[in-house]
Amino acid sequence: MRRLLLHDTDPAVTAAAAALGGTYEVRPLGAATPSDAVILVTPRSAAAAAADNVRLLGLVATADAGPWPQTWHAVLPLAAPAAMLAHAVAAAFADLDAAAERARLARDLSELNAIGIRLSAESNPRFLLEAILSKAREITSSDAGSLYIVEERGESPYLRFALAQNDSVAVPFRTATLPLTDESIAGHVALSGRLINLADAYAPPPDSPFTINSWFDEQTGYRTKSMLVVPMRTPHGQTIGVLQLINCKDDSSARLADPPDVERHVRPYDARDEKLAGSLASQAAVAIYNRRLYLSIRDLFEGFVKASVTAIEARDPTTSGHSFRVADLTVALAETADRCETGPYRELKFRDDELMELRYASLLHDFGKVGVREHVLVKAKKLYPADFDRIRHRVELLKRDLVLRTARAKLDRALARDADYAARAARLDADLAAALAELDRQLDLVGVANEPSVQPQAFTAEILRLATQTWQDAEGTPRSVLTPEEARVLAIPRGSLTDEERVAIQQHVVHTFQFLAQIPWTKELSRVPEIARSHHEKLDGTGYPYGARAEAIPVQSRMMAIADIYDALTASDRPYKKALRAEEALAILDAERRAGALDSALLDLFIEARVFERTARPA
Ligand SMILES: [Fe+2]
Repeated sequence: MRRLLLHDTDPAVTAAAAALGGTYEVRPLGAATPSDAVILVTPRSAAAAAADNVRLLGLVATADAGPWPQTWHAVLPLAAPAAMLAHAVAAAFADLDAAAERARLARDLSELNAIGIRLSAESNPRFLLEAILSKAREITSSDAGSLYIVEERGESPYLRFALAQNDSVAVPFRTATLPLTDESIAGHVALSGRLINLADAYAPPPDSPFTINSWFDEQTGYRTKSMLVVPMRTPHGQTIGVLQLINCKDDSSARLADPPDVERHVRPYDARDEKLAGSLASQAAVAIYNRRLYLSIRDLFEGFVKASVTAIEARDPTTSGHSFRVADLTVALAETADRCETGPYRELKFRDDELMELRYASLLHDFGKVGVREHVLVKAKKLYPADFDRIRHRVELLKRDLVLRTARAKLDRALARDADYAARAARLDADLAAALAELDRQLDLVGVANEPSVQPQAFTAEILRLATQTWQDAEGTPRSVLTPEEARVLAIPRGSLTDEERVAIQQHVVHTFQFLAQIPWTKELSRVPEIARSHHEKLDGTGYPYGARAEAIPVQSRMMAIADIYDALTASDRPYKKALRAEEALAILDAERRAGALDSALLDLFIEARVFERTARPA
């Protein structure tokens, strides 16, 4: 197609233009806005406006000394020879072409830039692959394409067919793997690291080591013609995958329904396509590589967190699995709240990284137990076993002392030949029997008091009395069954912990925070310490360790509090309490809510969406 040369209607200009009629399509300048044209003008021409896509060539009288409009590309005398004019017109067209090429390069560059940003921002691996393939097709005007990923798992690496796209025919879903050899074009490109550009895939160069798989064309009636196969290599030279682009079209909106369509619209890939696809493939390789690196670091961290949690829970086997179940329940509650479109939390949404943050906070919420002494952590009864043994031995010793004292008294009477010996001995024996029975009763009492169940007040008073009641030992020294400290511990009205031990255990939250605050969390996970810190706080300020009130407790911590209490109540039997059934645990949560301690709307979601069932309970 000849290019357009427009001219002012001045007779001299018209004549000059006509002389170039053999090379260009020559037309007088009309009202229509010209494009991709060179326009011959004079100082008197008014209509022709300068624009990016035209070049103005001024023809002036020899005597005209200017100045001439800045917008003119060049100036020639009106009487210039035809060859001179022809050269100037050709130079103007060359300048137009160079400008168009510059504009196209700028477009390509900004497009590649945008693609790079899009690829590095995509965190979903599936979407990332789709973005790579669709952008590669878009930028090269390809009708179809496939993407293969090099998999390193197993004994030897292989190619996994990851994705196919086709504008003209439906792509049947298939999963396939290829050996990483020269026999397939993708394998060859992956191994050689060099792109292959075929004008017709059915006629590859005769010395090619590969054969083209025609399975797809046979299945669908599609005609694969031009093909550009590009390796996706990282800057370190590692080939991560292969991008296969098919049927470069002259019109990206064209559909290739049959072979004539292919003949009409498909052209070979040119050097520009090679450059663009190669550049995009490198960006894609880096994006995939970074994504994998991120995932492997995340897996590494995840493994470390799990190992830490397992190690902590090993100190108190009765809480085994608690942290994992609390994480499952808390995240499930957050997802439920996210989906909920009514109630006070209808606006509450959680991004994936926020759910991950919540999960780590839940997994590590009790990590601070590492700072609580183990015997306190696993304390099942009010007295530690060694303390209880000491009391038993003390009672045993007292009983023997009493036997000894009685025997000695009887001997004294016998040696003194007491006339009333028989009656006195009988009385001594009776007194001994009563004392021994009383000591046994007191020891039984200690045994009952040692249990962590709630005791009546009268019972507690009797325990305290045991520390003041004295017995004479063999030497006549006064002894009691309990020391005042033991009596104080046994008089704990509820549970197994003294106030000091309770404070020590409650300190685990502070330890958790101090530990988590030392981890250089990423920006997305920065609130892990803060969320974990508040898992024992209650909305009414009755929680610990800070007694924070509602407005100071993050919603994530409120969720965790519900999950934590539910799991603690329903977990398998602990030495100091039996596992409750789900209804019983929910009733306790409900009572806590009515007391103003728990978030009512969140508890409703926990119960109504049956979130509490979302974790594997021990049978
Ligand atoms: Fe806790």
